[in-house]
Order: sequence, then C-alpha cells, then structure tokens
Amino acid sequence: MEIIRKVHSMGEISSQILAARRTIGFVPTMGSLHDGHLALVRRMKQLSDVVVVSIFVNPAQFGPDEDYREYPRQLTRDTDLLIAEGVDYVFSPEPDEIYPEGPATYVEVEDLSTRLEGASRPGHFRGVTTVVMKLLQIVRPTLAAFGQKDAQQAVIVRRMIDNLFLGTELLILPIVRDEDDVALSSRNANLSSGERRSARAIYRGLFAARAAVEAGERDPEAVVRAAREVVEAEEVLRVDYLELVDGELLRPVPAVEGRMLLVAAVYAGSTRLLDNVEISV
Ligand code: PAJ
Repeated sequence: MEIIRKVHSMGEISSQILAARRTIGFVPTMGSLHDGHLALVRRMKQLSDVVVVSIFVNPAQFGPDEDYREYPRQLTRDTDLLIAEGVDYVFSPEPDEIYPEGPATYVEVEDLSTRLEGASRPGHFRGVTTVVMKLLQIVRPTLAAFGQKDAQQAVIVRRMIDNLFLGTELLILPIVRDEDDVALSSRNANLSSGERRSARAIYRGLFAARAAVEAGERDPEAVVRAAREVVEAEEVLRVDYLELVDGELLRPVPAVEGRMLLVAAVYAGSTRLLDNVEISV
C-alpha cells in the first residue's frame, strides 16, 4: 500500500490506472477508522480493480465552534487497518494541498444542504460537497462508496454527482452497528459508559417508530412521537431534531407513504450522535 500526500501525485497515479483500463473504487473518510468505514472498503475491494481511501479531516465542514482541532487523528493505526484490507492507495493530503491560499471555489447543493443537519450546522454541507468534488476530481473514481449512516450527506452527494454530470457511480451502504445497536461513529469514543447505555435508546426509538408504521400507523406526527418518547425517556439524551422526511427531497412528509427516512440527531451529554432508519410504505 502506498500513502500519497500530494494532489499531483494522486492525479498521476489515477491517470495511469485509468489508462490501463482498470477501475478505481474510492472511499472518502476523515480517518479514525472503524468497521463502518471498513465495510465500505471491503465492498470496494470486491467491486473494483484498485481501491483508494482518502483520509482527510476537512476543515471546511466544521463550524467555528465545532471539534475540528479535537477530531481524532490516528494515521498510523488507520493505515495498518487499510493494509490488512488490501487497500492499494491512501490519499492523505495536508489542508493547504486541498485548500491553497487565495480566492476559493465552493460547491453547494441548494435547499437540501440547509435542512436537518444543515439547519443545525450552517455551512457544513457546503464544506462536504466542496471537498468531495475536489476529491472526485483528483482521484477520478469509477465507483465511490458512502454510508447510509450519514443519510443526508448521501442524498446531497448523489444530487451533486447527478447535477454536475460527474459520471462516478455512487454506492450507499447500510449502517454498521455495534453489538448494542448503536451506530458506529468516531465520536462514540467521547461517550461515558452511562451515555453509551442511554444512546441505545436512539436506535430503539427509531425502530419502535418503524414498527408502528408496520402495524398500520399512518399519521406522520404519531410516528415521530413514537420515536421521540423512547429517546426522551433517557435523561442524558437531548433531541436536536427527529423528523420523518421524504427520502429524496428531505422535506417533512404530509402523509406516511413512499420511501421515507426517519432521521435523528441527538445529544448524549455533549456528544452529538446521528442515526436514521428507512421506512417504506
Ligand atoms: P467520515 O465520518 O469519516 O465517514 C466516511 C464514510 O463512512 C461516510 O460515507 C460515512 O457515511 C461512512 N460511515 C461512517 N460510519 C458508518 C457506519 N456506522 N456504517 C456505515 N457507514 C458509515 O463522512 C465523512 O467522513 C466526511 O463527511 C467525508 C465524506 C469524508 C467528506 O469529508
């Protein structure tokens, strides 16, 4: 496995791979890898000739009061994990490689990026789409994998790829959960044992709501309430948002029908956790 630090080196490597008519599978990450990331890597390994993983803690997607500086960085551990998975290249540039000085260009998907996460974290998705666009331009993957864990991010990246005719095929893979059903996340490391125990109620709430729909509940507010009650029964949890939205436009649904997402952002103490389930009727 090779670790690439420079944009131009990564670009040359991709050119050679593509000229040899081999496919590139790409997994963008911010590192601190866990089994959720590795599930994406393993799928890319099955589906493509060459696998590239990027590890880049992207300053543009953190707000001024967010944890950019404290975000865990463990490049040696991460690269060991990726060697074991048979990854071919790790692209891990410094911030000034990706964001050179001078006037900057941003990519933004309107409307979708101001809802849910975007409402709580202004500018976050502009940072995500801008860096993903840059990474796709550098790596030029045939196929790129993202996780359903960040459901809104997946919807927005799909929209950007379609709108800008980028041609990369997008694969969204299911949420990987721990044995206690908590969705794997780099931020779980910040939870105390009590917070961790309470965090299980997020999954339980989402699945209680889905079960209510399966049992015939058709009132969107009642579906959300079913989840909220389970989450709010835990004292250390505080709901930031919990909404039943359309699976593509991310707008609250007027009726329980079609492909929907029940999406949640919940604080466990000071740690913000995301989770979601798909509900289809
Ligand atoms: P990061 O949080 O490191 O996540 C990288 C990828 O792993 C994302 O596609 C995310 O959805 C996926 N992922 C994380 N936890 C998962 C889980 N439990 N199950 C399945 N997939 C999971 O998302 C980002 O980084 C950044 O925003 C990035 C796209 C790299 C742009 O900077």
